[in-house]
Formats: sequence, structure tokens, C-alpha cells
Amino acid sequence: MQNDIQNLKNVALGQIIEAKTATELETLRISYLGRSGKLTKLIKEIKQIDKNERKQVGILANEAKNTIEKNLASQKNKLKESARVWFDATIPGKKPPQGHLHLVTKAISEIASVFEKLGFVRVRYPEVEWDWYAFEALNMPKNHPARDEWETFFIESREHKTLGQIALTPHTSSGQIREMERVGKPPIRMINIAKCYRRQSDVSHVPMFHQFEGLVVDRGISIAHLKGTLDYFAKNFFGPDRKTRLRPFHFQFTEPSFEVDVTCDVCKGKGCKLCTDGWLELGGAGMIHPIVLKNGGIDPKRFTGFAFGWGVERTYMMKSGLKIDDIRLLYSSDLRFLTQF
Ligand code: PHE
Repeated sequence: MQNDIQNLKNVALGQIIEAKTATELETLRISYLGRSGKLTKLIKEIKQIDKNERKQVGILANEAKNTIEKNLASQKNKLKESARVWFDATIPGKKPPQGHLHLVTKAISEIASVFEKLGFVRVRYPEVEWDWYAFEALNMPKNHPARDEWETFFIESREHKTLGQIALTPHTSSGQIREMERVGKPPIRMINIAKCYRRQSDVSHVPMFHQFEGLVVDRGISIAHLKGTLDYFAKNFFGPDRKTRLRPFHFQFTEPSFEVDVTCDVCKGKGCKLCTDGWLELGGAGMIHPIVLKNGGIDPKRFTGFAFGWGVERTYMMKSGLKIDDIRLLYSSDLRFLTQF
């Protein structure tokens, strides 16, 4: 009898630990401790055994009953605990990785905002452009050697009778004629910032890059206005102590033409390793050629104007003092590089 009770208890405890639900536990309780449960039956039989043994067996049976009850209760609690979903509000939150604007996007909005203060209107013209707007109307007729400087991607397509072939626009100057056509009658104050394409790829060139082009046409516009505008940009974009200078140059669509330099920030114009003579080259500019005005439908006898066109990437690097060894990194989508800015 004593052995039976002991065995029954052990089997019961084993089953209780294995139980996965409250219903399973209830079934177990009934099967051991219910009115006709296994332990209840044994307890009923105690009356029939020898008097000497009865007390011992009674104590053992009672202990078995209590242990089974206790284990049923504690297993029930355990199941309840593990069912609860824990939310600990004191654990520091996980920050999702946060993106930011690309370097070039930032540069574009900074450049645009400087010119917008002067009343320039931001425009955008097609990246896929007719030869007429990219070259011909800018005083670079077909087979003109000057075209060679713009290593142009032409698109295989049927030539238009008057507009010619289609190309990926190699500079934002193509927007000059389009803006003259859009506005019709001066004054014109345009800032055209767009993608440009040239067949070039090395540490300082990418096949797709950005330019910003300024165009001003009105009565009596002179080189003094050009110089004033460039100085305003240099001071507002690069810093109050920066100056610009115009160096004679040649473009087919401006006369006279210049290259614009800005004083070097490292040596403040004295000359150093970075700039050699104190000046850094920004890009091209000039007074609009009368032929170009005429092609845009504007009378060159009544109106004059100036234009300038510079690379966004280059101008931004000059501002930030960033020395990017390979400009192609800007467009490599490499987060190790981009997240630094
Ligand atoms: N379009 C010229 C270039 O791509 C720059 C330029 C713009 C020069 C306007 C003069 C006037 O190099």
C-alpha cells in the first residue's frame, strides 16, 4: 500500500509538470483527487488495512494529496505567467536608422536660395535636348570645333528638320534659349539647376553631374552687373571675406567671355599648396552673344545680358573644403561614405 501511494504520487507529479493548459491540469486533478480519483480510491481502502500500519499509511496518503494539490496550483501559476506578454517601458528605445539629404541635393538648395534672394527664378529644362538648344542656337553650328569640348552623348534617332539630333544635355546653357522663349520679353533672371551628361569618367569627372546656370537679360546690363552678382554669390555662399575675379576666356555663346575665380579660403588669396596663386577656378561666364539673344527672339540692340554656368559638385567641394579623392564616390550609393555628411 505504501508503495502504491508513493508511485501514484510520482506519476501524478510527472504529469502535472508536463501539462500545458489549465484544462489539462483540471483533468489531472479529477483523475487523482476527484470523488472516484485514483488517490481518493486508495484513501478509501485505508480502513481495511491492519491497525498497526493504518496510521503510517494515513500520514503518507495525506502528504501525497497535499503535494499533488500544491503542484497543481504552482503549475497553474507558471502557465499564467508565461502567457502574459511583457512590455518593459524602462528599456531604452531602439532608434531606426535615419536618412538625410544627399550632399548634392543640399548644395542645390543652398545655391538656389542665394540666387532667389536676388530675384532669380529657379527653372529646370529637359535633360534630353535638341541639338538646336544645346549647340546650334548657342552659336555653335554643326561641325564647329568648339563642340568638341562638350563630349556629348547623342541619341540614335531621326533628325528633326530644324532642331537637329537629340542629345543628353551636356550643359545647362541649353536652358538659355528655352528661358528666353518662355519669358518672351525681358527682364529675365533665371537660375537653371539640372543634370548634365558628358562622356567622361575619372577621379575628377562623372558622366552625370550637375550645373547651375544664371541668365540675366534686361536693358543696359553690363559686366559690372555680372561682377556684382558673382561677388554677392561668393560672399553669401562661401563666406563674407571671399572675392571673385574674371579672367578672359572664350565661349562661342558669350562675348566677352570669362572664367571666374574665387579667393582661396585656406590662404585668403595669398597663395598656397591648394590654389598656387590664391585663386580657385569656379567656372565660365560672359556677356550673352548678340546671335544668342537673336536666336532666343530678343533684340540685341535693345537688350543685353550675362550668363554663367558652374558645376554644383565642384562649387560645393570648394565651399566645404572637402577633398574627395574620387568624385565618383558621390554617386556610388556607398553608405559608409554618404553617412559622413
Ligand atoms: N556652359 C559652359 C560650360 O558648360 C559654361 C558657361 C555658361 C560659360 C554660361 C559661359 C556662360 O562649360
